Amino acid sequence: MLNTISNLFTKSNNLDFNQLNLVETTKHVHKLHPNKGKFIPQLAEYYLIKHFKKGDLILDPFLGSGTTVVQCKELGINTIGIDISSFHTLLTKSKITGYNSKLLENESRKLVKVLESKKKKQLYLFETTLKKKIRLYNSKYCTGKNVTLSPEDKKKIIKNFQKIQNRLLKKYKIKLNSNGESKYIHYWFNHSTLNELRLIKTEIEKIKNSDTKDLFKIVLSRTARSTRSAKHQSVASPRHPVLTPYFCKKHNKICSPPYTAFNKFTIYLTDSIKRVNSFNHLNTPSIHTLVTTDARTINYKKILKGKLLDGVFTSPPYVGQINYHKQHQYAYDLLGLKSNIEFEIGPLSRGRGAGARKRYITEISLALINFKPFLKPNAKVFLVANDRFNIYPQIFTQANYKILKTDYRNVSRRSEGDQSSYTETIFQITPIN
Ligand SMILES: C[S@@+](CC[C@H](N)C(=O)[O-])C[C@H]1O[C@@H](n2cnc3c(N)ncnc32)[C@H](O)[C@@H]1O
Repeated sequence: MLNTISNLFTKSNNLDFNQLNLVETTKHVHKLHPNKGKFIPQLAEYYLIKHFKKGDLILDPFLGSGTTVVQCKELGINTIGIDISSFHTLLTKSKITGYNSKLLENESRKLVKVLESKKKKQLYLFETTLKKKIRLYNSKYCTGKNVTLSPEDKKKIIKNFQKIQNRLLKKYKIKLNSNGESKYIHYWFNHSTLNELRLIKTEIEKIKNSDTKDLFKIVLSRTARSTRSAKHQSVASPRHPVLTPYFCKKHNKICSPPYTAFNKFTIYLTDSIKRVNSFNHLNTPSIHTLVTTDARTINYKKILKGKLLDGVFTSPPYVGQINYHKQHQYAYDLLGLKSNIEFEIGPLSRGRGAGARKRYITEISLALINFKPFLKPNAKVFLVANDRFNIYPQIFTQANYKILKTDYRNVSRRSEGDQSSYTETIFQITPIN
């Protein structure tokens, strides 16, 4: 059913969209891969339906995971999406490609068969035995989420379990540390997991169809992300790897880091194919252009070839909030993607002090100035930001825009792993001259 503003609002009577459940806010391709800092599709959908029509041309200069572009594709709106991160353009491309589902399913079956044949028996025996032992141990000593264990109890429980797992490691000849193609890979994966991830990559490289290959790379990246040796409670921003079973704060019991990747990959592959197939039914033949480059310096003249923009719908990176490249370091290293980290605006690593803010104001202004000459006279420009430092009015002044309207929405959880709530502002702006 085609979404209209009224049926979007029957489910949620304000821009918070807090009546919507997780299945709706992560519908079809939006859940292809976790990504920090994305907005919910219903927000983009609401503004796109209200202000634009089929055939219009919209720019998102800070594409991210492609929420705006996906929703534009659904509505028949043409789009240009730009991001400095090559992972983000690859992810968005994988979401909006019109796939031949038969071909996808054939390639998937072939790949899963190869992976099954490459499984190391000893390793899988080790993993199954370890899981069984953990289950037994948990049922004896950690009896559920609501039981409070003292820190001493937890220490004792995990110390005793380590002995069991050491015996298993020895018996099945399992090596823990890996040698990776990068410091990150070396640090974050168990030896056996990394071996399997590399094998998957080798098999993916053999696929001839480039769209299938790219989608499978995204599935591999999703697999790598969740087979890192990270604790369950900190999977979005893990600090240190944990190579052996640990006491998990999230589940209040012993949990184990992964030792394999094939099974996870197979699960994600099935899920991803289901998601792209369900988007296939909603996708329209509208035109899209995705470019990995800097929004401050992109040559729009070359991209637009005489056309002008009907509008912009975007959410820029905020100052000192997220490291956009680093959050997907495993993908950059494993897939050999080109990094443009030095051109990222406002990364967390630069902080949010006075100097960082000053620099951020100039950098976002430059991006706004860059697309200004290509806006139609009545173009509508929307920027979504959690402007906690109230710096956007300065940015607009510096870039010579004025605010036409501001809407507000409460966000209870924007970034993965971030439980805090805050107010997000949707600025509608227009050039002053
Ligand atoms: C807040 S996110 C966008 C999220 C997006 N709306 C979504 O739903 O996924 C901001 C994006 O800006 C990108 N970015 C940072 N610096 C950039 C630059 N100089 N040029 C273009 N994109 C940049 C980041 O890589 C990130 O993907």
